Amino acid sequence: MAESPRRTAAKRHYLMCRPTHFEVSYAINPWMNPDKPMDADLALAQWERIRDLYLGFGHEVSFIEPVEGLPDMVFSANGATVVDGKVLIAKFRHRERAAEADAYRAWFEEHGYSDLKVPEYVNEGEGDFAPAGRRILAGAGFRSDPGAHEELGDFFGLPVVGLELIDPRFYHLDTALFVLDEDLVAYYPAAFSEESRDVLRELYPDAVIATRQDADAFGLNAVSDGLNVVLTETATHLIGELRERGFEVHGVDMSELLKAGGAVKCITQEIRRP
Ligand code: ARG
Repeated sequence: MAESPRRTAAKRHYLMCRPTHFEVSYAINPWMNPDKPMDADLALAQWERIRDLYLGFGHEVSFIEPVEGLPDMVFSANGATVVDGKVLIAKFRHRERAAEADAYRAWFEEHGYSDLKVPEYVNEGEGDFAPAGRRILAGAGFRSDPGAHEELGDFFGLPVVGLELIDPRFYHLDTALFVLDEDLVAYYPAAFSEESRDVLRELYPDAVIATRQDADAFGLNAVSDGLNVVLTETATHLIGELRERGFEVHGVDMSELLKAGGAVKCITQEIRRP
């Protein structure tokens, strides 16, 4: 096998929301069970560990104030998609999360992001949209409306690659795929329709392929800065593959946020500037 390339980190800006009001009080994906106990202190400690890792890598982290009654607001990836400093606000599929969109909109307005769009179609931000270099990979099937893909491409002026999700356990694109750097992704093929699998194979012949166990462990719900990759420590096969490709892997325990169907990427929104 060819020697793995030297990886380099680029400075990132992330938006996070403290899990102050986090709980599992409804079920809108197959991982959620309101009857199962959740340890709120542990959830906070797990969230703080991710924040501290980002700060330790030298990244900028901003925080949005959590809102009472919005227990999933900790999953800031869903609030908006930001590319070139332009902000496409989310529009949530479920009424339980609908009010989060206004909170994210207010945050961006207050922080001087004037090129901002409130969408017509349902989109759950970076849950389904993964900017990768000068293109955006966009999932649909469970949450974001396929109509949102055109809206996305028009707003950012970038080509959009639509991908169809077929397994309800992998209901957002970011549960089945993540971007390692501009032209490299990792994904779990069985989460996608056959057609979308062909598209991915064509676009990313060198992609890191995750196993069912990696995907079940939420290992693809990961964040990469080009060098450091933060992901759930139980995705052991994926961790080995990433190390072999020259990435610095930081395995974390996300047991409590997993009870809501989210892990590292879900609690991390990236603010991309021009
Ligand atoms: N309970 C949340 C939901 O079902 C989890 C969202 C996870 N976020 C993500 N980016 N996949 O909407």
